Amino acid sequence: MNDDPTDARSNRNLALELVRTTEYAALAAARWTGRGEKESADGAAVDAMRLMLDQVRMDGVVVIGEGEKDEAPMLFNGEHVGDGSEPEFDVAVDPLEGTDLCAKGMPNALAVIALSGRGTMFDPGPVFYMEKMAASKRFVHLLDLDRPLGETVELIAKEKGTPVGDVMVIMLDRPRHEEAVKTIREAGARIRFIPHGDVSASLIAVTEGTPVDLMWGIGGTPEGVLSAAAIKCIGGKIIGRLWPSDDVERQAALDGGYDLEEILDTDRLVSGEEAFFSATGVTDGDTLAGVHFEGPEGATTESLVMRSRSGTVRRVHARHDRAKLREITGAKIG
Ligand code: FBP
Repeated sequence: MNDDPTDARSNRNLALELVRTTEYAALAAARWTGRGEKESADGAAVDAMRLMLDQVRMDGVVVIGEGEKDEAPMLFNGEHVGDGSEPEFDVAVDPLEGTDLCAKGMPNALAVIALSGRGTMFDPGPVFYMEKMAASKRFVHLLDLDRPLGETVELIAKEKGTPVGDVMVIMLDRPRHEEAVKTIREAGARIRFIPHGDVSASLIAVTEGTPVDLMWGIGGTPEGVLSAAAIKCIGGKIIGRLWPSDDVERQAALDGGYDLEEILDTDRLVSGEEAFFSATGVTDGDTLAGVHFEGPEGATTESLVMRSRSGTVRRVHARHDRAKLREITGAKIG
């Protein structure tokens, strides 16, 4: 990839092209909101994102996708996406992050995509889960996966100059978090549990001025990489450590050369200088409004569109004419 910042081509903001892929994925998934069919919602989002990705001028390879080729007919790991022209990118996609949230009409389902230079995105290999922690710029020096969480929330309180009872930690509501919950509560901090969607949780934790100070939990490794791409643009930090869920996964990771003790920070998860990120709300959430349908063929979307090199974070509000979009693209968006 050309890294000369004065080169007009390298100075392109691809996130402005990527937003169309997440908007379409969100529009397609939103038709399935609350209908209890998460596979249909996910399938619609994948189809729509894949269709729009072909129009992005890049040579992309999916590093974080819908899985192996045999299981995923589209956006599978290793698939080439884009129109094939330079520059070369690694691509991470989650056309519907929070399939269950969408199927149940619950908050914080997103359509997400991230790019960074070829060979710069962490490939999670066989390890599905990662222990992760993220916070805004103000608390980055306090992030530590080995320090007891009770101590970390006390340090955050000290940094804020508030009682520990003012500190809010966001985490997935899972039995595997029982011990951590106990420690945080004993320290006196508060917890906001979420049923799904830790990309959205990372976004709220790293954004200053929100009610959330820290994201912690064992969640998807792919979501960790996607979050890292966003955090490279917004600022703040994420750290993670692979968390194999059984001996088979552990052995597969070791055989694949993964270091299970390694602390993977933002720049290890996405090491390129140039990262792009786009997320569009599917259902209304903490960070983004979801898709709202208007009139017989209208819809509005809200997206976060970012680029790490410039640090520009745009909030893009769009009004769509679904009839025209269907005509132009053939996308099934309602
Ligand atoms: P999906 O969109 O693939 O359903 O993932 C949702 C999610 O909640 C992620 O945000 C999170 O990282 C992961 O699942 C947690 O996995 P699990 O539900 O197995 O605990």
